[in-house]
Amino acid sequence: MDHTGAVDALLQEERVFRPLPQIVIEANVNPQEYRMALEKAEQDVLSYWEDAAHELDWFKKWDAVLDDSKAPQYTWFPGAKCNIVYNALDRHIDSPNKNKLALIWEGEPGDQRKYTYYELYREVNRFANALRSLGIGRGDHVVLYMPLLPEVTIAMLAVAKIGAVHTLVYGGYSAKVLRDRLRDVGAKLLVTADGFYRNGKVINLKHIVDEALSGADAGGVESCVVVHRANVEAEMHEPRDLWYADLVRRESPESPTEVLNTDDPLFILYSSGTTGTPKGIVHSHGGYMVGVNRTLNWVFDIKPTDIFWCTADAGWITGHSYVVYGPLIAGTTTVMYEGSALYPQADRLWDVVDRYGVTILYTAPTLIRMLMRYGTQYPRQKDLSTLRLLGTVGEPCNPEAWVWLYKNIGHSECPIMDTWWQTESGMILISPLPLSLLKPGSVNRPIPGIDADVVDAQGQPVPAGKGGFLVLRQPWPGMMRGIHGAPDALREDYWERIPGGVYCAGDVARKDADGYFWIQGRADEVMNIAGHRIGTAEVESALVSHKAVTEAAVIGVPDSIKGEVAKAFVVLAEEWDADGASLDDLVRALRAHVRAELGSVAEIKTIEPRASLPRTPSGKILRRLLRAEELGEDPGDMPSLVQDDDA
Ligand code: WT7
Repeated sequence: MDHTGAVDALLQEERVFRPLPQIVIEANVNPQEYRMALEKAEQDVLSYWEDAAHELDWFKKWDAVLDDSKAPQYTWFPGAKCNIVYNALDRHIDSPNKNKLALIWEGEPGDQRKYTYYELYREVNRFANALRSLGIGRGDHVVLYMPLLPEVTIAMLAVAKIGAVHTLVYGGYSAKVLRDRLRDVGAKLLVTADGFYRNGKVINLKHIVDEALSGADAGGVESCVVVHRANVEAEMHEPRDLWYADLVRRESPESPTEVLNTDDPLFILYSSGTTGTPKGIVHSHGGYMVGVNRTLNWVFDIKPTDIFWCTADAGWITGHSYVVYGPLIAGTTTVMYEGSALYPQADRLWDVVDRYGVTILYTAPTLIRMLMRYGTQYPRQKDLSTLRLLGTVGEPCNPEAWVWLYKNIGHSECPIMDTWWQTESGMILISPLPLSLLKPGSVNRPIPGIDADVVDAQGQPVPAGKGGFLVLRQPWPGMMRGIHGAPDALREDYWERIPGGVYCAGDVARKDADGYFWIQGRADEVMNIAGHRIGTAEVESALVSHKAVTEAAVIGVPDSIKGEVAKAFVVLAEEWDADGASLDDLVRALRAHVRAELGSVAEIKTIEPRASLPRTPSGKILRRLLRAEELGEDPGDMPSLVQDDDA
């Protein structure tokens, strides 16, 4: 893209956009610094990341930047001692950030709570002390099943502060999923809330928790801490259940921060893969904090007066990295909103931006596409002039949604950072910076220090414009430590999938002649519904657990708002209508059954009965064939990591 005339033509056609000179000049990384960073990362990537690590506080510095002796089990900053919470809170208390707002929270009914860094620090310490008094310590596992309340931030930080490990389970998952997670991590403690507000209704969360804990297979949960939020009926089972407020009331607002090793686990977060059971992705303190801090400051260009709002739920990796840890480490003000974007009407996002003067808004394409349907009447009624940067994540952002966001929300002045990354990566890997020439629909280029490429199944780079597998050639600081309980998975599922010692992300992408990446979708049998990863196998096993279903195949099909939705093909048991139910009744019952098994995140759009399902000679379901049939495509069109011919 060096040819100015060509760029001008593309600018005219709105196929590329250029950030305003003012934004580029004032960016944390200006064009000259960017070129130098790329050069430095190319020459000596470890020294590049070492510089990034020096921006943070450590109890003891590292012996080396990277230990690759057990690759792909890489250890970043071996020998170092640290705690991410020291960087997110403790150090701010001795700085001008002490009395700055750390957190602005708004409930769906309109209630608000604000915490300065000092106030948040004291709350975290109280809860950390409470956790210790409940017998939780270093290496213990705590599950958080909570709505988006300030207490979710407080609990995450308190758990990490004492060296325990948190696992968030998104509130849209079912009791069964919660129970599976509790058991899988071996949780000693669960933190939850009585309920929460969603679309003007109160959802009782404690009911679901009671159901999860009633099973004999919920593992060894000793205590359940309940935040009082929604004033709903909550049956407190003594001595197991404790009110959060009672617990912290008498605790001291000072609490020591555990001195941890760089590779001590910080959290386990589950994400769907190709099997029926999601994988527990483990992240640790040292590398992760370096990765989220660098990316937040460079991609989102954090300035002292920013109000940063990432709309993700804390239960996803985006919430971990860019609602909680990243913004607090960077010492900015992070916004959290509990409820629905459509409540009380479809202007809530713009209303929140207006009232708090949000300067950076980071959200999901699916939300933009949903809000686009309401036209521009709502954004036009609000003052969005404080916005200076926008971001998207989680799924491909189609150019229409990009341009709509750019013009109507960003008043044609805010560059959009379409950031590509994943639960496993912990941090943004491919993204524009505020100085980049932007192409709507593209995630731009790898950030400095990241070596990404598009290759074929043999690991050979594919020519520009051709689809292939997205790989990373070098480790990066925010990368996962591994998969909980599956010591070989890191190697087998990621680093040995494609020859050449590269990390296979599981995505199909293409690179254009300018080296810009365009993400096309998943290369495995994982769906991306409204930005959430759901394995087809998970939904299939939920379907076949219903007595009317003997076989099931699930595929993702394109959807104009959610990006993708699930379609199921089922073979029914012979006596499926024995109780006189119609096919319509059954379809309804099956959808409800899957929701009960997995939660509202796994909504099936359509269910189609079939006499049989196409299978390989070895009996594997040919989902690719079903998908090709459904979409009228050639099954060979899209590169896939799934081997159909394994007979
Ligand atoms: C998968 C990871 C990253 C946090 C939220 C999702 C897809 C992610 C983009 C993007 C196109 C994207 C990929 C990736 N994805 N960001 N900007 N453009 N696709 O985390 O649940 O681990 O999902 O989401 O397919 O592999 P996740």
